[in-house]
Amino acid sequence: MRIIQTNSYEEMSVRAAGLLAAQVLLKPGCVLGLATGSSPVGTYQELIRMCEKGLVDFTQVKTVNLDEYCGLESTNPQSYRYFMNKTLFEQINIDLSNTYLPDGMAQDAAEESKRYQAQVEKLGGADLQLLGIGQNGHIGFNEPNDFFTRDVHEEKLTQSTINANSRLFGEGETVPTTAITMGIGNIMKAGKIVLIAGADKKDIIEEALYGPVTPKVPASVLQLHKDVTVITVQ
Ligand code: F6R
Repeated sequence: MRIIQTNSYEEMSVRAAGLLAAQVLLKPGCVLGLATGSSPVGTYQELIRMCEKGLVDFTQVKTVNLDEYCGLESTNPQSYRYFMNKTLFEQINIDLSNTYLPDGMAQDAAEESKRYQAQVEKLGGADLQLLGIGQNGHIGFNEPNDFFTRDVHEEKLTQSTINANSRLFGEGETVPTTAITMGIGNIMKAGKIVLIAGADKKDIIEEALYGPVTPKVPASVLQLHKDVTVITVQ
């Protein structure tokens, strides 16, 4: 595991974007596993800047996102599909039909999880997976549990995650309580993993990287992956 300590969110974002861009340069038709939330916004801004300058070309790239809230239309600004379209996809030269997320509006979340699992497998999984981390150690939306999950599944969000997510929702907007997420098994199959964690994640990063490997701290499983780069802010 490589740990890169940076001095600011901006520096963390530039370092992470560099690793994603390097992956695309090495394999122009690669599959990038992407995350949402506040942590990757700066990384995506940097990738947009690099794409505008012609330093990276996404025309052959495919993307698979970690998760999507249940019950939100793709046109809902709080949905992860909307977030990805606005924050990254519509600002780079990627073909939108090469970008994949679970469908949060599917009638049957279990069926949709199976469909997305098959989709991820068909693409061969992610060459590089970008991750953020929750204050409780979740990656994707794999919450602390008694076991490590394997495949894409519906997850009931913990109250602490719902509270954390609510900061991004406006007054009167209902914060979803369930999501469809890749499992820990999907994440661990990625060729490379890049985990970005801002200064507010110091304690949980310490626990996940140096504590015991346990599903009670889902990110601790990353200690067992062969190619992880963690980029933190001091
Ligand atoms: C989002 C995701 C989550 C977030 C985590 C941290 O796709 O999978 O695991 O990475 O909740 O969120 P932020 O970055 O908003 O602190």
